[in-house]
Amino acid sequence: MQATAIAQPNIALIKYWGKRDLALNLPAVGSISITLDALHTEVSIDLGTNLASDCLLVNGVEDADRLPRMSACLSRVIGDRRPFARIETRSNFPIAAGLASSASAFAAATVAAAAAADLDLDKASLACLAGQASGSAARSLFGGFAELENSGDTITLTALCDENAWPLKVVVAITETSPKATSSTEAMEISRQTSPFYSAWIQRQASDLATARRAIEQRDFATLAAISEHNCLKMHSVMWASRPPIVFWNSATMRCLQTVRKLQQDGCQVFFTIDAGPQIKAVCTAEDMSAVQEALSQTPGVQQIMTTGLGRAAQLVKKT
Ligand code: PMV
Repeated sequence: MQATAIAQPNIALIKYWGKRDLALNLPAVGSISITLDALHTEVSIDLGTNLASDCLLVNGVEDADRLPRMSACLSRVIGDRRPFARIETRSNFPIAAGLASSASAFAAATVAAAAAADLDLDKASLACLAGQASGSAARSLFGGFAELENSGDTITLTALCDENAWPLKVVVAITETSPKATSSTEAMEISRQTSPFYSAWIQRQASDLATARRAIEQRDFATLAAISEHNCLKMHSVMWASRPPIVFWNSATMRCLQTVRKLQQDGCQVFFTIDAGPQIKAVCTAEDMSAVQEALSQTPGVQQIMTTGLGRAAQLVKKT
């Protein structure tokens, strides 16, 4: 009746932006991600509490705002006629600030909920259920490099490369720790409805995915770097051209981007990606990690640096 799972956030190199079905939370495009190692969210679910309603504690504090989405996630996994649950989540990094905390939280919640209810679900089913809570959460059911594809009225996930097979590093430069003003779901809908670049974004995604998939297969850093930066800037261009415009960057984000360009000019194997928030994620080789850490930590406006390798799939850690 009680289970705890842990999941790492993932960041997309080829991004998901836009939904083709809001009710089922189906993405409009496929995506390719890397799961991170050092950042994690642990979720404990207790179904044997005789509570009068669900209760959610986020990092030790009761969180009524996030409760409905978490309750809906549990009901999807266990069914509507489930007992009420006490849900506790703990993350070791800032949440709702563009660091994919919803991916790790909902991936861990899905795994913990299934275990707490004694359901024997395979990884593909868990990924679909996690994806209905948060599109990117499906990818945290996988370690290393993973691809999410649209297939019919569902999604399928494929492991592209094990975390140890191409052990890249990610240096996260945190430029702001307060939660973002616009949620990804809201921002995606504004983009779909108003951005003149939205249809071009959708049309070109298959080609970006194919380029990245091949680069990962061949461990071709330069090609992966070029297509990932292009795809990231294209996604943000869709947002910037929306009405109202959606700009998640701050001035330090831009300065970090320039730092990465300078590192590249100096011969470092590094590239950037930016999600629905102002943080920069610099993906690099292990050899160039110290140079990237050093340069980003000295960039004005950077509040904190976190460095991580590539992580494992979501795991069940305890069941009683
Ligand atoms: O999973 P969501 O709904 O928070 O959306 C994630 C959106 C991006 O992080 C910007 C891109 C992605 O593929 O992760």
